[in-house]
Amino acid sequence: MPENVNRQWVLKSRPDGMPTETDFDLAESPIPGPEFGQVLVKSLWNSLDPYMRGRISSSPIGGVIESEAVGRVMESKLDGFKPGDIVRGRIGWQEYGLLDVTSAYAVNPDYGPISTSVGVLGMPGLTAYFGLLDVCEPKPGDTVVVSSASGAVGAVVGQIAKIGGCRVVAIAGSDEKVAYCVDELGFDVGINYKTEDVSEALGKAAPNGVDCYFDNVGGPITEAVMEHLAMYSRTVICGRISEYNEGEPSMGPRILRYLHSTRSRIQGFTVNQYPSQFEDGRAQLARWVKSGEIKYREDIVEGFENSPKAFIGQLGGANFGKLLIKMSDE
Ligand SMILES: NC(=O)c1ccc[n+]([C@@H]2O[C@H](COP(=O)([O-])OP(=O)(O)OC[C@H]3O[C@@H](n4cnc5c(N)ncnc54)[C@H](OP(=O)(O)O)[C@@H]3O)[C@@H](O)[C@H]2O)c1
Repeated sequence: MPENVNRQWVLKSRPDGMPTETDFDLAESPIPGPEFGQVLVKSLWNSLDPYMRGRISSSPIGGVIESEAVGRVMESKLDGFKPGDIVRGRIGWQEYGLLDVTSAYAVNPDYGPISTSVGVLGMPGLTAYFGLLDVCEPKPGDTVVVSSASGAVGAVVGQIAKIGGCRVVAIAGSDEKVAYCVDELGFDVGINYKTEDVSEALGKAAPNGVDCYFDNVGGPITEAVMEHLAMYSRTVICGRISEYNEGEPSMGPRILRYLHSTRSRIQGFTVNQYPSQFEDGRAQLARWVKSGEIKYREDIVEGFENSPKAFIGQLGGANFGKLLIKMSDE
């Protein structure tokens, strides 16, 4: 590959429904030089996350696909950062990016491998932490149900709930994922929503009802959980991946009667509500990871050229754990 080339995945066409690889184009441009107040970062790990499906519905055609990545500072014209430092920020799907004082975040290498700064110790881990503890407010003995339970967010949700003395029911899309949740993460029951009737299985798994539902998926799974809400239950709407490729919502609010009869609470949530508490949350997650109370699994895809395929796979459930693109052999 010639020097001074920055490979970038850009949006070629706006997907209608599930994206296809032809919606993305691999472009090249010169590696940019930092201006005063900027750092040039070489991306080492690019984070692929379901929210990107929403972003490419509105981001410009020809623009670099948005994402958070962690990388090494190559050149710095920003006080406080020097070449060699590890930083994370919204570099996007490209090999090199510029960050500034508002967008470059130093990564604490004492916390663990740097890839975790965009996974269990980054946005997905913090989503689990604040969504569960602040919105669901679980108490010891509560039954907590989590969907997409083996994923980057769901796996941390269930483990924090277990630390807090809850009974955890995992919903996931394959027997392998369900076995991982139960055998390796210690969740109490697993339900494969692709082969089981979720409502029937929940009736057995949560005979006293669901006190907390951490909803990562929306759609029919969520509707099934609603039938089993306990009195005064709390549901956090964290994600709706089952609907991200739909133009129009397919389902009306048929769940309201369950909320009504159980006097339950359902609340929307995004992790960016909590910026002032991120460092406290990250420090707690790092302590749990160090003590072994929280385990994490990464699904590492080698090769930048495989980014669109990996992202499309994630929207269909092909990933198993936090999905990362390994950008370099460093
Ligand atoms: N609110 C926030 O601030 C925030 C922050 C981060 C993430 N999120 C949301 O949280 C959810 C999980 O994110 P993540 O990063 O942890 O992703 P992830 O769980 O690691 O990966 C996505 C998983 O979604 C599941 N899935 C795909 N299509 C589905 C469908 N039709 N029905 C049910 N499950 C389906 C698949 O697992 P299965 O094989 O188990 O189906 C897939 O592996 C997403 O909805 C995401 O948008 C929200």
